[in-house]
Amino acid sequence: MKMRKSKLGRGVAVVGAGMSRFGSFPDKTSRDLFVEAFSEAVGSVERGMEARDIQAIYVGNYSSDLLEGQGHLAPIMADWVGLAPKPATRVECACASGAVALRQAILAIASGLYDIVLAGGVEKMTNLPTEKVTDVLATASDTLYEGTAGITFPGVFAITASAYFARFGATQEHLMKVAIKNHNNGALNPKAQFGSIAEIMKRRLERAKQKGEPLPAWRDEMDFLRDPRANPVVAWPLRLFDCSPISDGAACLVLVAEDLAKNLSDSPVYVIGTGQGSAGALHTRQELYVSPAARAAAKEAYEMAGVKPEDIHLAEVHDCFTIAEITATEDLGFFEVGKGAKAAEEGVTALKGTRPINTSGGLKSKGHPVGATGIAQVMEIWHQLRGEAGQRQVPRKDLRLGLTHNLGGTGGTCVVHIFERR
Ligand code: COA
Repeated sequence: MKMRKSKLGRGVAVVGAGMSRFGSFPDKTSRDLFVEAFSEAVGSVERGMEARDIQAIYVGNYSSDLLEGQGHLAPIMADWVGLAPKPATRVECACASGAVALRQAILAIASGLYDIVLAGGVEKMTNLPTEKVTDVLATASDTLYEGTAGITFPGVFAITASAYFARFGATQEHLMKVAIKNHNNGALNPKAQFGSIAEIMKRRLERAKQKGEPLPAWRDEMDFLRDPRANPVVAWPLRLFDCSPISDGAACLVLVAEDLAKNLSDSPVYVIGTGQGSAGALHTRQELYVSPAARAAAKEAYEMAGVKPEDIHLAEVHDCFTIAEITATEDLGFFEVGKGAKAAEEGVTALKGTRPINTSGGLKSKGHPVGATGIAQVMEIWHQLRGEAGQRQVPRKDLRLGLTHNLGGTGGTCVVHIFERR
């Protein structure tokens, strides 16, 4: 049967965005974080709107059940932001929960059912110690095939990195370049969990000095990252600074039907492509460094938007580990398979490079409160396309097309969205 080319039934635009700071907040619950993000998102709609105009809410959340002992999160969030009794739906797709919540919100508007919808995401991860969080995250793998092999997420991406290194001759040094870039971008983002590696290095030296310990002779960030005491191995070949952190945080977007966008916003950002793909466990993949779900999602989104990878001006991709940024840029067609590491090394993906990737700091530096990540990625693109990204604004006058890539589990789900400023 010949299928119709996929297309939204009605155009959708983002007119508001907000997020809490990402980090570790022992005195806040996911409710507090969500309320912060919601208030900022509604307040950012320039021409003003009433929160009560929102007709439905989709909340991306991976595992409040196991992380906070609270299931059934969506109606609670709706109540706390004053939207109950509007329909509230929690969406769970592991680390891609945020982007799938966004996609559901887009489809709800495109179907004609609603005109104004909130897409949000939240995760409160730091209540539990690291080893417990690792176990909770590992339930997002295929527990029959991957879990029984003892896999954890650092383990999954360590396997990916090993396969990539063996096939293409890349090294840990390429991953370090990705970490330095993303921490440099994060240093320019007031909402990010971590600043630059240069700042972290300076703090460590001060701490050693205060304790009267011998001072390490790091010449630069690369030297710091090569030092196994500063940057210990987590799962070979990945080290501490290759991993995204454990984070608390929330993010929200206000979405409206395209025909209403100009009533609410001076510069709406339009959703021109949405794609979602899925895949089985790692043993079903041809190559560990190629994500079939990402490729399927990208294909759908590009076709819907009528654009090609080379048309995209900037992207936020799912760098849960540094190697994942490199493979994502290849899955998205920005670089040939095996060439992403070199592109990162040569500065192509830097803020001032020709293809800026993760200007927000990415998951690596901004933080990765799982359910919020896919929404926060869109907020960065929204700011960048509106020319509001401050010190980390991409210096390009014709900035028009941005993309987000959000991966869940061991690559079981991937969602790609493409946005346009008109
Ligand atoms: N990158 C850089 N520094 C980090 C960091 C990270 N990801 N995580 C923690 N740190 C720093 C802390 O700030 C702290 O620094 P300080 O001593 O200067 O204050 C130090 O490292 C120790 O922090 P701690 O929280 O004790 O680290 P940890 O060993 O418990 O956890 C990881 C580190 C990498 C194991 C943990 O962050 C992790 O599991 N990350 C992956 C999360 C994940 O899998 N997410 C899903 C992806 S699909």
